Amino acid sequence: MAKTKTLSQAIAERRASPSFDGVPLPPEDLKQILEAGLHAPSGYNMQPWRFVVVQAPEQKRRLRAAAYNQAKVEEASAVIVACGDADGWRKDIDLMLQQGREGGMPESYAAQAKTSVTNFLSGFTTEQMHAWLNKHVMIAFTHMMLMAEVMGYDTAPMEGFEQDKVHEALRLPMSYWVVALLAVGHLQGPDKYNGGRFDLAHTVFGEEFGKPLK
Ligand SMILES: Cc1cc2nc3c(=O)[nH]c(=O)nc-3n(C[C@H](O)[C@H](O)[C@H](O)COP(=O)(O)O)c2cc1C
Repeated sequence: MAKTKTLSQAIAERRASPSFDGVPLPPEDLKQILEAGLHAPSGYNMQPWRFVVVQAPEQKRRLRAAAYNQAKVEEASAVIVACGDADGWRKDIDLMLQQGREGGMPESYAAQAKTSVTNFLSGFTTEQMHAWLNKHVMIAFTHMMLMAEVMGYDTAPMEGFEQDKVHEALRLPMSYWVVALLAVGHLQGPDKYNGGRFDLAHTVFGEEFGKPLK
């Protein structure tokens, strides 16, 4: 593991790495990164995320072909393919409630949660489900990205891929929706320029739209 950083340093210094050296990740580091994602919050604690970790050279080549031939897909030590499972909640609701009860979920909540979750999610259109999955998967994804950066790794988030091709390359079930790819490894060569960020006055309001934050 490289030199660790504080979360503030990781946030300030993180760049979307343009190129990686491909040295394999120690399995315990990979696990720590993945576990950080699994700790993310989600609506009703339904945890609809699923991840496919691609490390084998042949699979990285296939994934690269599904990702507009982006070289970093093949160069990275690992690519975490972040997906949502549109049917996950149906299968997982009892497990979620059991774990919740073990952790102290009030019985009154547990008793009505199954109906609430079913009522909320079963009426979703495909587009609404994809939006719901995107929202949750990206929180877990960001936890992983920042944990990797804190641990001294470099990362690159990617939305440049073709849904159908990633499905085919990874043999994903039909209910899976690919949200983003996260390349993890060590930077090779020069880092990306810092593109800067819009400041608070441009992007943040206080109390209502248009009013500056005091
Ligand atoms: C969800 C997401 C998808 C992205 N997809 C790609 C991509 O497919 N290819 C790429 O080279 N960069 C991609 N980027 C990187 C962005 O271009 C980069 O984050 C942005 O320019 C800001 O640069 P910085 O992250 O180095 O500060 C993506 C970033 C995010 C957050």
